[in-house]
Amino acid sequence: MKTHIVLLGLPGVGKGTQGQLLSSRMGIPFISSGDALRSELTRGTNIAKEFEKYMNAGLLVPDSIVEEFIADMLSKYNLEKGFIFDGFPRTVHQAGFINGYLTSRGTAIDAVLYLVAPDDEIIKRISGRRICPKCGAVYNIYFNPPKEDEKCDICGTKLIQRDDDREEVVKNRIKVYKDRTHPLVDYYGNLGLLYRIDALGSVDAVQNRIEAVLNG
Ligand code: AP5
Repeated sequence: MKTHIVLLGLPGVGKGTQGQLLSSRMGIPFISSGDALRSELTRGTNIAKEFEKYMNAGLLVPDSIVEEFIADMLSKYNLEKGFIFDGFPRTVHQAGFINGYLTSRGTAIDAVLYLVAPDDEIIKRISGRRICPKCGAVYNIYFNPPKEDEKCDICGTKLIQRDDDREEVVKNRIKVYKDRTHPLVDYYGNLGLLYRIDALGSVDAVQNRIEAVLNG
């Protein structure tokens, strides 16, 4: 079974949703560069101010800054039994960096799951996303609404929209994905590591497709 996994796909396609579910089913760490960067912003550190100007504009944090951040983030995890990476690598340069980092820890990626859904579905998933600023739970007002109006089912906190989920920023994120991240489809395809997953349908249906690929 494949257990050293990278999730790839457009913003809002469902990488975080699938990755967290997979992590709890497989008992391996789910590691998200986006979550780690957002948590740095809430701490208000000096480096966070640098991250924020790129993130709020829908741009990638430059490789020269983010690669060191990612290495530091990964150093906190035991990667021996496997991992699920969400949000990185995001450029061909980052892919080379991550490969070198993993080699130095005696491990390697064995599957890149490329999640694919039509643009209109992506827009609906992003525009409907709401998050809990306290516990991080993710909802969707169209597909997975909270039980009580705009309040977190787990901790009762009022849900918010992510700063970078505003329409004008989303357009930029999609453009940046197509220019900078989509080349990874060919990159990992050429290495024989890429698996295309149809991300349309219920969360469980998509998870079943992923599990079939990982077991196959
Ligand atoms: P990041 O946090 O990585 O954002 P992203 O890639 O744009 O992905 P999202 O979190 O928006 O979407 P997702 O695919 O995880 O979807 P989700 O599961 O939430 O990055 C944010 C920013 O950080 C970047 O723009 C950049 O500035 C910076 N950054 C991060 N990493 C970086 C790096 N390596 N280098 C440089 N910069 C970096 O689902 C979306 C919604 O759909 C939810 O509401 C969910 O409930 C719903 N949903 C999910 N699945 C389904 C389904 N099957 N049916 C119906 N609804 C569904």
